[in-house]
Amino acid sequence: MTGPILSTKGLSISFGGLRAVHNLDLSVDMGEVHAIIGPNGAGKTTMINLLSGDLLPSAGQVFHRGEDITSLPAHRVARRGIGRSYQITNIFPEFTCRENCWLAARSRRETAMRFFKPSGRDKDTAENTLEALEMTGLGDQADAPAQAMSYGEQRQLEIAMLLALEPEVLLLDEPLAGLGPNESLAVIDLIRRLAPDHAIVLIEHDMDAVFSIADRLTVMVNGEMLESGSPAQIRGSDKVRQAYLGDELEMETSS
Ligand SMILES: Nc1ncnc2c1ncn2[C@@H]1O[C@H](COP(=O)(O)OP(=O)(O)OP(=O)(O)O)[C@@H](O)[C@H]1O
Ligand SMILES: [Mg+2]
Repeated sequence: MTGPILSTKGLSISFGGLRAVHNLDLSVDMGEVHAIIGPNGAGKTTMINLLSGDLLPSAGQVFHRGEDITSLPAHRVARRGIGRSYQITNIFPEFTCRENCWLAARSRRETAMRFFKPSGRDKDTAENTLEALEMTGLGDQADAPAQAMSYGEQRQLEIAMLLALEPEVLLLDEPLAGLGPNESLAVIDLIRRLAPDHAIVLIEHDMDAVFSIADRLTVMVNGEMLESGSPAQIRGSDKVRQAYLGDELEMETSS
């Protein structure tokens, strides 16, 4: 395929008078980790909500593989292979890790025909589930209830639930938030392993992590793209420097 796997043109949404995302042209290629950084309230999560179909833009378009998917609802965006994680943990606590993944995978595969035609894909779903758990290091805890896991493991489970859908595009909203140093390293390593055959949009406040794994960074401020480029270009950008009034890219607090 030529051209970006996911892109936006003039993407905008306002909440009342607040321009949460304004005129955003974003482009994400297969095989790249594209980090979105910017201060609290910059519009990063809102942008992911627009990409995932959780929000409808007030102007502009979203394209996947060159097709306009702007008006598709979230479940249809997910079915196209665009998967997202949430800033807030989003699992069923009483269910096991395996069941959480299985449910996530099934929800994507479910079709209107399911009552008439038994699905032949349960085996695939079970295999994908185990693979996803193994990839995130949770393989040996597949049958543990999610609520018995540490917070960090629950965040990893969420990534496993996402991987069970076999997405080609991953939209990750602060996957390292609240993780300890070792858990963070494990997730960073996982993102690195996934990068070659996925397109990954990564919102993250941990600048060391971001600069260590991003191929490209987009800096958002007040809903707009301030700058987009390689880590070296962002580090060297006067605009980025001026916006944060400092030499260091210590621009955010974790939320
Ligand atoms: N559903 C909503 N209704 C009204 N305002 C909203 C809504 N969602 C977000 N906002 C506002 O839009 C702006 C952007 O919010 P958003 O959550 O996208 O920021 P963010 O960059 O993800 O911030 P953080 O780093 O704190 O997660 C904020 O001012 C926020 O209060
Ligand atoms: Mg956010």
